Amino acid sequence: MAVALAVALSACGGGGGSAPPPAPVSAAVTVEGGEPQAASGVRVYPAAAAPQKLSAWRVVASDGATLALGDRVVPYALNTPLFSDYAHKLRTLWVPPGTQIERTASGPLQFPIGAVVTKTFYYPKAAAQTPGALGARRIEQAEGGETIDLATHHLVETRLMVRQEDGTWGAVTYVWDADQRDATPVRSGQAIAVELVADAGARTPFTYQVPTDRQCVDCHATNATTRRFEPIGPQARHLNRRYAYAGGSVNQLEHLSALGLLAGDATGAPATTVWNDAAASIEARARAYLDVNCASCHNPVGRAAATGLWLGADVVAPTSLGVCKPPVGGAQYRRFAYDVQPGDPDASFLYHRLTSYRPNSEPPRVAMPELGRHVFDAEGNALIRAWIAAMPPVCP
Ligand code: HEC
Ligand code: HEC
Repeated sequence: MAVALAVALSACGGGGGSAPPPAPVSAAVTVEGGEPQAASGVRVYPAAAAPQKLSAWRVVASDGATLALGDRVVPYALNTPLFSDYAHKLRTLWVPPGTQIERTASGPLQFPIGAVVTKTFYYPKAAAQTPGALGARRIEQAEGGETIDLATHHLVETRLMVRQEDGTWGAVTYVWDADQRDATPVRSGQAIAVELVADAGARTPFTYQVPTDRQCVDCHATNATTRRFEPIGPQARHLNRRYAYAGGSVNQLEHLSALGLLAGDATGAPATTVWNDAAASIEARARAYLDVNCASCHNPVGRAAATGLWLGADVVAPTSLGVCKPPVGGAQYRRFAYDVQPGDPDASFLYHRLTSYRPNSEPPRVAMPELGRHVFDAEGNALIRAWIAAMPPVCP
């Protein structure tokens, strides 16, 4: 079968040290069948024709000792990230040479055709007691860096999305092979036994779930009708923070501008509150947390639209945030009068659903988010608890 491969050619030669002068670049060249032509640099494929090894994209590379980034691949972090079972994450973006990311007044950045965004999930290593489980140290990630030391960290999966020639985003996840040198696509999910080990000694065995292709869309299609896969994190306000690059710590938007990858003025953008920044208000921190962790489904056109519980950063109506709003679902939970009972977290359906995780037992149907989380986010839950507790205990 002749599959049309969109190939982004790299302007950079190299690989051997003495780089030939940059070749003319076409952002997306269609090749019938066969291998991409670029000699080096990131290569781009439609997600449906994703190669059988992650290394073929040349976004990240591992020699079994270190994970490193490919040519012109830029790491980034978010002010407030998605919680995923205490996994650490290395996020990257890459755009074809000669193209730029455009900023929009609000909402996601506009990426050029051929752009590739990845997120690698990994854990700091710990000694597990559960036979066959991956031992994972439960510790807050210190954002920054451009490599991962595999002597002390274990790679789990690298999720990848690519802006295809027709403008849509395609996505695929690659699960890292046992030898940690490359990763293989997994389309229909995979269960991985993990044991979280807290420094104080507590051990939490749980089953980490690599999402299915369908589950990727369940979270990433922020519009449940079109079900188009969209990026969630890359928005100016989420990226407006410093990152410790190999060359020093600078603001991410300014860094992208300086590299010529981001069009327009990078200064003066709003910044999402950092969810665990003790200097920020509980209100702002909780709203940032709910925005990133919940609003991809809990928005007026999302998967959870019918609940009327909308948790995006732009929502102002208290009822939309669940305050004094009766739950629409969950008949077995009629004892909860409201999603959020002001001043009383334990009487709030929203808090109940955040704390309903019993690893590997209680149906995920009760727990929220309904995907991507298999253990409590103790710190996140404490934040939401504090947010509800601080509300004046009255309903209109
Ligand atoms: C539980 C919901 C959820 C599921 C399931 C999910 N994602 Fe995401 N994903 C997110 C959120 C929220 C972000 C942004 C926040 C962050 O990066 O911490 C994100 C970020 C990403 C990113 C970085 C760019 C971006 O959109 O921010 C990639 C790439 C990605 N996801 C790919 C995938 C793929 C591929 C799958 C399926 C294998 C998948 N995701 C499944 C919620 C989800
Ligand atoms: C992957 C999509 C998805 C994500 C992400 C998600 N939810 Fe939900 N949520 C749903 C769906 C679908 C429903 C409706 C069905 C149900 O009640 O289980 C729902 C229902 C709820 C309800 C009941 C609301 C009502 O009025 O009946 C609460 C409370 C809730 N979610 C809280 C959250 C919180 C808090 C987060 C983030 C920490 C979150 N959800 C993230 C899909 C999601």
